[in-house]
Amino acid sequence: MKSIQMLDLKLEYDHMKKDIDEAIRTCLNHQRWILGPEVRGLEERIADYLGVKHCIGICSGTESLVLSLRALAIKLKGQEFFDKTDEIITTSFTFTATGDAILRAGATPVFIDIDPESYNIDIAHLGEYLNQNSELRTQNSKVVGIVPVHLYGQSCDMDNIMKIAEEHDLFVVEDVAQAFGGAWKDKKLGTIGTTGSFSFFPSKNLGGFGDGGMISTDDDRTMELVRMLLRHGGKDKYNVEHIGYNARLDTLQAAIVLAKFKYIDEFNVGRRKIAETYNEGLKGTEGIVLPASLPDAFHVSHQYTIRVLHGKRDDMQSSLKDKGISTMIYYPYPLHKMKVFGNGRSKSFGSLEQSETATESVLSLPIEPLQQQDATLYVIDCIKEYCNNL
Ligand SMILES: Cc1ncc(COP(=O)(O)O)c(C=O)c1O
Repeated sequence: MKSIQMLDLKLEYDHMKKDIDEAIRTCLNHQRWILGPEVRGLEERIADYLGVKHCIGICSGTESLVLSLRALAIKLKGQEFFDKTDEIITTSFTFTATGDAILRAGATPVFIDIDPESYNIDIAHLGEYLNQNSELRTQNSKVVGIVPVHLYGQSCDMDNIMKIAEEHDLFVVEDVAQAFGGAWKDKKLGTIGTTGSFSFFPSKNLGGFGDGGMISTDDDRTMELVRMLLRHGGKDKYNVEHIGYNARLDTLQAAIVLAKFKYIDEFNVGRRKIAETYNEGLKGTEGIVLPASLPDAFHVSHQYTIRVLHGKRDDMQSSLKDKGISTMIYYPYPLHKMKVFGNGRSKSFGSLEQSETATESVLSLPIEPLQQQDATLYVIDCIKEYCNNL
């Protein structure tokens, strides 16, 4: 039986083996494991690629969100954490870490529904909440920022988000964990908001051999604060000013990500080609909805996610599994239904119906950038066969 994985990291390693092995060997020889030269090397390389003033290596994507928000609390409020009355808007249909980072920075996450086609934040709802909320400001709570998530590798509508942010004087922390190399018009993601937050989790478009992340920003003060927070909270780690973390990016991870960086554009093109093949092959298939692409977004197809109709998602997933095809559900639960966001820790705007429907119907298909065309065609055939038999 065929075996088609969501990703084949061993295949990718074999493809880049020479570069990766050499990068690891260099580290073994210099033994500078903490903030070694590869960390700064990667920061400079990515800053140059994105077209942003500063990049700062962090130990994970999650911590890069937390540190961005903490730095902004210190910068904007002159205090270590946000207050519970400070609201930060995001969506309910994302990875837990997005909402969790807001809680850990002391603020209250406000979940806004998604647009059912792009799966990203619904701009109309965002505007509605903010307009309604301005009347409530006297009652203490105040929206301070937005964390838009570029889900599945596709940009949010950044023109409208930035316009709304400016009107309401909000910061924007872009969650770019799934969209390295993606763009909105001529701007790379992570360079449009106040900060960008990246993940090098192994399955990401640019992934390491463990956890890793990065923050991008044009703002000198935010960069300075993040650099303090990631090494215990001070310029001098033996005499600190802020409540800090040990959140440095490992030298070894930086070396591996730097070696893999050479391939990022080629791999993003590979993902986009697979997405095109799926689009072409599955067009018009009844019982599923294909992902939409915004014309202004350069989609890096971190995931190729279809919607399976009539409550058949789980059944289709097990049928594909029987044919040797791995699929994933990103995400099976909306954040607003999780216990961690209960007990008054978060707010929801409206019914969040689209987020809930998405959790019940989405299915992500294999999208290994080095995947052969016949594997993609096999997945297409199996999905069509399933839908024909419905
Ligand atoms: C949208 C989103 N935000 C944040 C994260 C957190 O990144 P990490 O796993 O590197 O902590 C992830 C990845 O897992 C993600 O997909």
